[in-house]
Amino acid sequence: MTTTTRNGAIGLGFDERTGIATLTLRMEGKANKINDAFGEAFAEALPWAKARPGLKGIILASAHKDFCVGADIDMLYAARDPAAMYERVRALQTGYRALETCGVPVVAALTGSALGGGYELALSCHRRIAVDDPRIQVGLPEVMLGVIPGGGGTQRLPRLLGFQAAADIILQGKTVRAPKAKDLGLCDELCPDAAGVRAAAEQWIAANAGFQQPWDRAGYRFPPPAPGTADARDMLLVGSAMLYKKTAGAFLAPQYAISAMQEGCGLAFERGLEVEARYFARLATGDQAKDMIRTLWYHRTAAEKHQGLPGTDRQGIEKVGILGAGMMGGALGWVCAQAGYRVVLKDIRQPALDAAMAHCRKLTEERAKHLDAPAREALLGRIAPTLELGELRGCDLVIEAVFEDLNLKHTVTRETEPLLAPEGIWASNTSALPITRLAEASRHPERFIGMHFFSPVEQMPLLEIIMGKGTEEQTLARSLAFCRQIKKTPIVVNDGYAFYTTRVFSAYLMEGAQLVAEGHAPALVEWAARTAGMVIGPLQVFDEVTLTLVRKAMPQSEKFSGRKLDLAGFDLLVKMVDEHKRYGRAAGAGFYDYEGGRRQGIWPGLATLAAGKPAESGIELVGRRLLLAQAVEAVRALEDGVLVRKRDAEVGAIFGLGFAPNTGGPFSFLDRLGIPNAVALLRSYAEKYGPRCAPPALLVEMARKGERFFDAV
Ligand code: NAI
Repeated sequence: MTTTTRNGAIGLGFDERTGIATLTLRMEGKANKINDAFGEAFAEALPWAKARPGLKGIILASAHKDFCVGADIDMLYAARDPAAMYERVRALQTGYRALETCGVPVVAALTGSALGGGYELALSCHRRIAVDDPRIQVGLPEVMLGVIPGGGGTQRLPRLLGFQAAADIILQGKTVRAPKAKDLGLCDELCPDAAGVRAAAEQWIAANAGFQQPWDRAGYRFPPPAPGTADARDMLLVGSAMLYKKTAGAFLAPQYAISAMQEGCGLAFERGLEVEARYFARLATGDQAKDMIRTLWYHRTAAEKHQGLPGTDRQGIEKVGILGAGMMGGALGWVCAQAGYRVVLKDIRQPALDAAMAHCRKLTEERAKHLDAPAREALLGRIAPTLELGELRGCDLVIEAVFEDLNLKHTVTRETEPLLAPEGIWASNTSALPITRLAEASRHPERFIGMHFFSPVEQMPLLEIIMGKGTEEQTLARSLAFCRQIKKTPIVVNDGYAFYTTRVFSAYLMEGAQLVAEGHAPALVEWAARTAGMVIGPLQVFDEVTLTLVRKAMPQSEKFSGRKLDLAGFDLLVKMVDEHKRYGRAAGAGFYDYEGGRRQGIWPGLATLAAGKPAESGIELVGRRLLLAQAVEAVRALEDGVLVRKRDAEVGAIFGLGFAPNTGGPFSFLDRLGIPNAVALLRSYAEKYGPRCAPPALLVEMARKGERFFDAV
């Protein structure tokens, strides 16, 4: 006979025949989340199961698609009191601990993904059996949102797999698909379907009466190297050093995670949990986690869902033409083909087409491993390289990616636009030229739009969509439908020279050059950027995008934006390019020296181009100036009406140009600094470094009114 009871969030079932109690997570809404409702239900569920006469084992299951998606982010985001958070996490840990020490074998039936606190729940079970389906993922992605696992993950995973394997998952916030999870030991067994999982779970319970977690058994040995040994100390020391090299100390979560592992794993299990809870509570209630969650969770999700943007059920795009098979065009063609579009890749040079097709082949091998050979051939077969303009006839969308030259772009528009299908859309992948100016060559400015992709196109998640003055809403709606199909995250901005991302990006590069010109040590400039959270230092980025490109773009920027440049940094750039022929990485000489394409040290000659020693310098000052220069540019973009949605400032900067993710983005950075403080700092900078640093009127106004960009939590 089967008994079933409901206690709200968890369905309770007991099969007297097998002696197995099944606790089925079935929380309100679409997904199971770890929150108070879960905690209350769980606190009742376990005693209920234990009270069943003849209990032989417990299966944890889910009534939703996923097993459990982890912490309730709304709850996490709102929490500000470390003491209260500590108590909450301890209660969760105690619940999980009670499960793993309940005296009968417990199995997690992973018929869907188990992430974060959801995977920690599975880790508290004695066995994890998953459906053999790559759509099912498990892992601990907490550090991506600025927190660490708080449900015992930093204690159980190392005790199960060892420090190295656990650190690989926890410090990088990794999630892995079911087949790989089995290889790594994150799951114990795979079955073809849910019924198979159930049967395997019942069998395992029947065969493992009295099962205990390895760490609860007498004679347990930590997977070597064990905590406290010289080998473990060496490994953790190297791990910490590598982490520091990667994060420059700007990201607290991975640092706290390594500390929790290191300190907690040398202690008794229960004490280890306390160590984890302390680190978790401090992090989760702090500013960095709030800023990261706001942007990387809320804003990003809103952008991915196209919230507040027009939708359409008539995309009307099947055949896509790409004009220019260069660095951008080739990869763009592949991305479109992968999304199912027929693609015509047009260039004026056969070698460019050959190189682009070779690149597409390589991308297919590297990134479409899940496809069988015929499917890969079909993917490549959807891309037709050509020198013939006529092949573009009937395209529903043409993305123009020829050289960055207004006249050339006008010429190809005039030549090619008449070949478009009747409702066809023309998109330019320009990185800076105003769309409205480009559309002057078009007979249909209403169907002319900017689609600014980022390199490498197949990797970068962002697409900056730019509305020209004449672009119609329907064109935007169809472009957004296209964006969804190629799985990019959109930001939508208005026109203006360099739109949003390129503008902020240029501010970063030019502030870097400016600092060097003022005499700040170049190596300090690079490191200060990293310690402030920037993904790559400005001089290194400069070398990648080439100094020549920026050298050419800055006067264009003056012409189109009407804003005068008064930068010593620009003079330095001119000298680097015109006198010293230092063009960037590809040329083998830029801010850095290169040997055989490998970056060596900073070019020693750079010192001779600087203006002696600055009155004050240092990591903090330089890092702050680099972030402020970008944040101010973002404010100006909002002031000018280029930015329409504040969330786009954050999502665009982090995903498009590697703006410090630890800050949450340029506006979150200003909020955390305090708007009045930012205004005061900028005023002092204007006195010291020139009028270009003066605070924008919008910021001054916000300071006066006591406003912020985003609500405080
Ligand atoms: P590229 O120099 O690698 O490629 C340009 C290609 O256009 C060349 O293969 C050239 O043969 C071809 N081309 C020139 N005239 C043509 C014509 N009349 N018809 C057809 N093809 C023609 O340039 P890249 O880097 O791919 O840039 C292309 C555009 O994308 C530029 O507007 C650039 O500003 C923009 N962009 C570049 C990014 C980057 O990281 N490289 C990032 C975002 C945008």
